[in-house]
Amino acid sequence: MKPMLAPSILSADFAHLAEDVKAAERGGADYFHLDIMDSHFVPNISFGPWIAKTMKRITDVPLDAHLMITKPREYIPRFLDAGVELLYPHIEGDYDVYRTVQMITDLGGKAGITLNPATPISSVVPLLDLLDRIMLMSVCPGFGGQSFIPSVMTKITELRELLDEHKPSVRIAIDGGVKMENIAEIRKAGADFFIAGSAVFKTDNIEDTTRRLKAILDGA
Ligand code: DX5
Ligand code: ZN
Repeated sequence: MKPMLAPSILSADFAHLAEDVKAAERGGADYFHLDIMDSHFVPNISFGPWIAKTMKRITDVPLDAHLMITKPREYIPRFLDAGVELLYPHIEGDYDVYRTVQMITDLGGKAGITLNPATPISSVVPLLDLLDRIMLMSVCPGFGGQSFIPSVMTKITELRELLDEHKPSVRIAIDGGVKMENIAEIRKAGADFFIAGSAVFKTDNIEDTTRRLKAILDGA
């Protein structure tokens, strides 16, 4: 599958969000990634569904939202109503995660699921029928700008093998510490959807950086 790049606006400068987003769009961003944090599931707060509505006024590039919140079902309808195409709740701590994922598809959204670095790959098997994308965290969620955890590389390969056998159409997304220096290696391990926050937005030329990351992916 053709690799896709999704800049995370968590690392954008909100004093000029529209300019940053437009620059990444010109550089070829395939999606924009919204990191939703509630200060309970992760030790940080970010933003709510209103940011999706704001983004819909800025860009036509599709949005996905990473739900780092303890009660995802309370917010799934609101994010879908706000125009988010795909939602990734976390598998950890949700006693009823099948219901959560099913709610997304029942409401017409695309479903993803997120696994923290220490969560085993086998945990996704019961959900596979419902999923469009599986996101492996390559940092502990909560903050941008952290370093990629190397052991996730073998999880990517393990997941690719599992998906090739059971549901090849599911994309593998990688979130955390993705940057110019490691994106080709992550691609080779089997990922095909790349979330990058600081690597895109904490640079002097967002458009050029986005274009270069995409070029590496297209060549890898
Ligand atoms: C972390 C978030 C990531 C983060 C990525 O909790 O889920 O999406 O913004 O940022 P970088 O690319 O800087 O690691
Ligand atoms: Zn994220």
